[in-house]
Amino acid sequence: MTIQKKPAAEPLLAWYDRHHRDLPWRISPAMAKRGVKPDPYHIWLSEVMLQQTTVAAVKAYFAKFVGQWPTVADLAAAPSEDVMVAWAGLGYYARARNLKKCAEAVAFEHGGRFPETEEGLKSLPGIGDYTSAAVAAIAFNRNAAVMDGNVERVISRLYAIDAPLPGSKPAMKARVAAMTPDDRPGDFAQAMMDLGATICTPKRPACALCPFNDVCMALESDDPERFPVKAAKKEKPVRLGAAFIAVDTDGHLLLRRRPESGLLGGMTEVPTTAWTSRVDGETGVEAAPFAAGWQACGTVTHVFTHFELRLGVYRAQVSRGDVGAVHGFWAPVTNLDGEALPTAMKKAIAAAIPTAFSTPKG
Ligand code: ADE
Repeated sequence: MTIQKKPAAEPLLAWYDRHHRDLPWRISPAMAKRGVKPDPYHIWLSEVMLQQTTVAAVKAYFAKFVGQWPTVADLAAAPSEDVMVAWAGLGYYARARNLKKCAEAVAFEHGGRFPETEEGLKSLPGIGDYTSAAVAAIAFNRNAAVMDGNVERVISRLYAIDAPLPGSKPAMKARVAAMTPDDRPGDFAQAMMDLGATICTPKRPACALCPFNDVCMALESDDPERFPVKAAKKEKPVRLGAAFIAVDTDGHLLLRRRPESGLLGGMTEVPTTAWTSRVDGETGVEAAPFAAGWQACGTVTHVFTHFELRLGVYRAQVSRGDVGAVHGFWAPVTNLDGEALPTAMKKAIAAAIPTAFSTPKG
């Protein structure tokens, strides 16, 4: 049998009305019918957090942010350091710095109101193609084609797109734009995402439950898992380094702040060597910032977007007087949650002090 019908938005929207996920920032179709409008601040905040991060992980961070800063003006007025601490663990820290800059632009240059168009949103710091389309569609019901990884999977299967990602993105976006309805563009975008997350999954999609199962070309080809086709990935380069966990006699840990710009800019770290791709670089205890009884505690690995980091971890009991003030600042080991420590640093600290965090994040 060859498919006759073309994919259309209506069956997906009907599916979404019954099976949408309840998410803390989301206005359900029933609420929307009663006239409840989404809060653009909530939509923007959630969409920035959801880039590269799962819905499950974002929920707690979203609750923390809106509890601490209920409006975009509150976030704009917050000290940057507090925002970095609240963001710690979510990764991709440039997002947090841009979040603060964007909140300031909205609060101080736009009277506290987000622009409603894709164009206007894109003029704000840190807002690119994805976020502008998502906020325009979901918060302001503007017709915008929203593309993320879930949507790419759904659309590539619907049309059995053989060209590999990322080159096939514009063709996929054109297909999504052609399907996006004028009356419910925000619900359509969220429905595509929910379908990708719950039915049209990477492995073993639940095609029997899919509202598109009568029009899906990948299903007709009998191998939906083959899509999306992806260009072969280059192997990530490995960088090496060492991290030094110095604890004083009162149980304080030596920390320092990373430079404002660059990777993990403005975040907190333990002293580390440079992270180098050279195996003969200074990646071991010989590169410790000061002499002490350093003991090896193993190696931790953390995968960043562009490289994999392997840090040898060393621990020493020290006295503050011997270390001096030049190396950083001291924080109680029992209260490290108040520090803007990225996950790579938490892993290094946990390797040396297993009780430092109740659940070290991976
Ligand atoms: N992933 C990114 N944005 C999302 C949204 N608005 N709903 C569900 N999943 C998402």
